[in-house]
Amino acid sequence: VDLQQYNTLAIAARAAHFARVESRDQLLEVVAFARSRGLPVLPLGGGSNIVLTEDFPGLVVHLDIRHLELDEQEGAVEVVAGAGENWHQLVMATVERGYGGLENLALIPGRIGAAPIQNIGAYGVELRDTFHSLEALHVATGEMHTFSASECEFGYRDSVFKGRARDQYIITEVRLRLPEDWYPRVDYPALQQYLRDHQVDSSGLTPRDVADAVIAVRQSKLPDPQTIPNAGSFFKNPVVSPELYQKLKRHHPDLVAYEVGSRWKLAAGWLIDRAGWRGRMHGPVGVHERQALVLVNPGRGSGAEVTGLAREIADDIRARFGVELEPEPRFYP
Ligand code: EPU
Repeated sequence: VDLQQYNTLAIAARAAHFARVESRDQLLEVVAFARSRGLPVLPLGGGSNIVLTEDFPGLVVHLDIRHLELDEQEGAVEVVAGAGENWHQLVMATVERGYGGLENLALIPGRIGAAPIQNIGAYGVELRDTFHSLEALHVATGEMHTFSASECEFGYRDSVFKGRARDQYIITEVRLRLPEDWYPRVDYPALQQYLRDHQVDSSGLTPRDVADAVIAVRQSKLPDPQTIPNAGSFFKNPVVSPELYQKLKRHHPDLVAYEVGSRWKLAAGWLIDRAGWRGRMHGPVGVHERQALVLVNPGRGSGAEVTGLAREIADDIRARFGVELEPEPRFYP
């Protein structure tokens, strides 16, 4: 099976075996098949955060497990969703009912099962803020496990599923708890700017108002993968020592950075932009013209071409600023 339509970077790569599953039982069945043949398994949701570097020699499982429950109990809203549900549709389903908590995460591509893996986040909110627990299949034994929030070990664009438990589990269901004491989170500069520009009164904002602002801001900078293939931010924002931050700030007074604890998180988009990469094409692949952190693949280049460009950018940023960029999507195989 050609995986081009299953990854938002639109990289052409083949899977030796491919199965679409709609239920946990179907998943157990196909994973047992892979185990009996000694095949590696690659679970795939929306394919919006992966880079296929070569053909996949094992079984690709397309997770289409769908069910969605929103339960209101004494003010608290509980969400239970199958891994194959679309993330943005879930956000809008809560927002339409007036439930707050997920509105800052509107329009993030992909499916719910992938959301905990990198602890998706945007505009000052992360999945972990509303996460309750998840169900996952342990590939090696075929057993189901429940992971609590602390067991997921969430960090900035990180979880246990990118670290110690990498490739060992397939998430089948996610449970969220929306906050009882909701308030709008609009501190992020781009949201403030939007509210000012559109003369929206920030008192009395509803979850829907915030979602509308987030959607507008995202649409103004981030390319729609349906039109221009991409995987969102290609690098994490690097966190550096106060010494390195001070040194960079002296040379570049307009450097964009946020203090986190005693360290500083730099806007990688700013570094890449300042290095002159924004809007540059490299054969079929390039750097988005409105957001330098996003690599685009309009010419349907290969995984090697995408990673080649990423490596060149990282080398250049290291040479210019002494800062190490770490890719944000996952690479397969
Ligand atoms: N900037 C530039 N030039 C650029 C891009 C950015 O100067 O080409 C500057 C902006 O002006 C701004 C700062 O860098 O002052 C930050 O830019 P932006 O607000 O667009 O956010 P980001 O740090 O580039 C992160 C996330 C996004 C998320 C936004 C909003 C990461 C790796 N990326 O991007 O997440 O939507 O913040 O919260 O943390 C993703 O993970 O795929 C993703 C899109």
